[in-house]
Amino acid sequence: MKRLAFLFVVIVAMMLSGCGSKTEHEQSDNISHQVDSVLQLMTLEEKIGQLTLYTSDYDVTGPSIRENYKDDIKKGRVGAIFNAFGADYTRKLQEIAVKETRLGIPLLFGYDVIHGHRTIFPIPLGETASWDTDAAYTSSRIAAVEASAEGLHWTFAPMCDIARDPRWGRMAEGAGEDTYLGVKMAEARVRGFQGNKLGDLNSVMACVKHFAAYGAVQAGRDYHTVDMSDRMLREVYLPPYKAALDAGAATVMTSFNEYDGVPASGSKFLMTDLLRNEWKFDGFVVTDYTSIMEMIPHGAAEDTASAAALAIEAGVDMDMQAGFYEAALPALVKSGKIKEHIIDAAVRRILRKKFELGLFKDPYRYSDVAREKSSVMTADHLNAARDIARKSFVLLKNDGQVLPLSKTGKRIALIGPLVNNKREMIGSWSAAGDGQKSISVLEGIRQAIPGVQINYAKGCNINDDSTRYFSEAVRAASQSDVVVMALGEAALMSGEAASRADLNLPGVQQKLFDEIKKTGKPIVVVLFSGRPLTINSLDKNADAILEVWFPGTQAGLAIADVLFGDYNPSGKLPVTFPRSVGQIPIFYSMKNTGRPMDPNQKYTSKYLDESNEPLYPFGYGLSYTTFNYGDVSLNTNEMQEGDTLVASCSVSNAGKATGEEVVQLYVRDQVGSVTRPVKELKGFQKIVLKPGESKVLTFKLSVKDLSFYRRDMTWGTEPGKFDVFIGSNSRDAKSTTFVLK
Ligand code: GLC
Repeated sequence: MKRLAFLFVVIVAMMLSGCGSKTEHEQSDNISHQVDSVLQLMTLEEKIGQLTLYTSDYDVTGPSIRENYKDDIKKGRVGAIFNAFGADYTRKLQEIAVKETRLGIPLLFGYDVIHGHRTIFPIPLGETASWDTDAAYTSSRIAAVEASAEGLHWTFAPMCDIARDPRWGRMAEGAGEDTYLGVKMAEARVRGFQGNKLGDLNSVMACVKHFAAYGAVQAGRDYHTVDMSDRMLREVYLPPYKAALDAGAATVMTSFNEYDGVPASGSKFLMTDLLRNEWKFDGFVVTDYTSIMEMIPHGAAEDTASAAALAIEAGVDMDMQAGFYEAALPALVKSGKIKEHIIDAAVRRILRKKFELGLFKDPYRYSDVAREKSSVMTADHLNAARDIARKSFVLLKNDGQVLPLSKTGKRIALIGPLVNNKREMIGSWSAAGDGQKSISVLEGIRQAIPGVQINYAKGCNINDDSTRYFSEAVRAASQSDVVVMALGEAALMSGEAASRADLNLPGVQQKLFDEIKKTGKPIVVVLFSGRPLTINSLDKNADAILEVWFPGTQAGLAIADVLFGDYNPSGKLPVTFPRSVGQIPIFYSMKNTGRPMDPNQKYTSKYLDESNEPLYPFGYGLSYTTFNYGDVSLNTNEMQEGDTLVASCSVSNAGKATGEEVVQLYVRDQVGSVTRPVKELKGFQKIVLKPGESKVLTFKLSVKDLSFYRRDMTWGTEPGKFDVFIGSNSRDAKSTTFVLK
């Protein structure tokens, strides 16, 4: 009976898919018929099985696991499995679904391929520091090639959460504090993951997460409450999600947090009113890990049935790991509390993706051992990872041009807990990446300067209070001409469930630095972190600081490339570095207030014990050369509807090295029916200039670019004066003004 039913499904699918080229509309119609042909064969339990996602035990990314997930597959209780990968393993699981269930509906396989699958790229925050959307596209494209070669159909990425609080460890997974930059990175990453079209063998479905506004958790504490105005939500937090969906993202993942008092997984406003009705999203929505169950501790539901009802009625299609749909929906439908057509609509959205991926035609098409072997960690992929890693590094300080280091003559001390360390190089959310295959700082530098004496000493551990290795580190420094210290966080001190209330260097690393400082040797700090750290002492006492985030598989090679000048650093901060946790939230596009800081006036907006200024501003990053900016000129000082404002500025390379510069354009609307930020990023261009070379950059602004949610929440502009800034970061920029009529 099973075989007959499945064959019927396949025959119907084949007949309806037909042959010959069809328009997209005809194909879409076809798929709708195919989906309906399957749906009409399904029992209620089989339908609800399609709305259920369980993790395998290959990898675990949350607090619970189902021991008997293979039994769940066999009984048709699950339509998708995550954390399972590998051509062979996914084929085995797929065979259970296709051969041992009544209808043989194929499984979806999903995984957190966040910054690479086997070849690991910089963490997304680091990659964003490259301000290179081509790099973001390339790393996502390679991740998709490797993930799809290992049987995966779906990645739970890109993470599009704007984050302005570095206490929140998940800042590491996104594109930082700025909406405009977040939009650009989100669309590049979706295009990379999904490639030309879903159904291509080297494409995977993207998943826009975490919807919505998860980055605004109170106090930077993971999973905490999110509460903000509709205006703030729409102006700052929503655009990257929308951009990802406009780039064609196939799925959306709900966030753990509540918004406006309702947990996202139960929010009809977010999942239906906004996502489906306003934005016309037609893919499917999956919850985050057990978050339907979590509506009970949230205090939004009293039991399994009410939580399941809340979620399905809000517009959530797939239950990740809670098993609440499986447990409660059959009775809810049979009792009439939930109408079956709601279930059918969710099942249709999921089956549609399975058809688009070609899984009904060939459920095993992604589980191909031969393709797997030839697609993973190739030389091209590794070279791309090295190139993108180099571009992600931000040079924060370089006093006396201590960098780049000479490749000959100087004895180099390599000191710190992250020098001879491989696992930490690939950061959090490194999925199937193997840290042991990454290049450590020690290996990278040894390879770069084979003939030079290197004195290595760990000095201390990353995060404990032992100082027993200090003396050997001081000895290593004393026997050297220059010291490179690899300091910072461990990989999992950022990412999920990794909020920190103190952003100083962990453990005794600062003490170690202070001991090495006493030797009087020049010190270059290579800083590993998944978020900004309050490194005021390093800023004062180190000669150079290179922020490398977590660079991925090729870490050591990329770091050596920059330290020895084979690549001139070009990264710019995608997040503000605070001087102290007490300043948080601190970000560049703040409001001016009615009492802007005046050091000579007590009654103005400031601290008694801290500056208002960040340690390093958004968009900041140095180079081995220097760039000079001319004045900003405009094609007009007045613009009106339909006009295009052209802002120009010449940039010249006044140094001795060829370098790349991210030239940034900001705008300020001086007066509005609601107050406007002192700056908003509205454009950037990354250019290369040879020594002595100059270039005139032009930026075009339309009236649309000046739109915002006005007092009445309509989207549009208001006449008045605007400032235009062009510069090398959000602080150091030249400006001029124009009037919008
Ligand atoms: C985790 C994360 C989410 C991830 C999911 C599956 O809890 O919040 O980002 O995609 O569970 O691993």
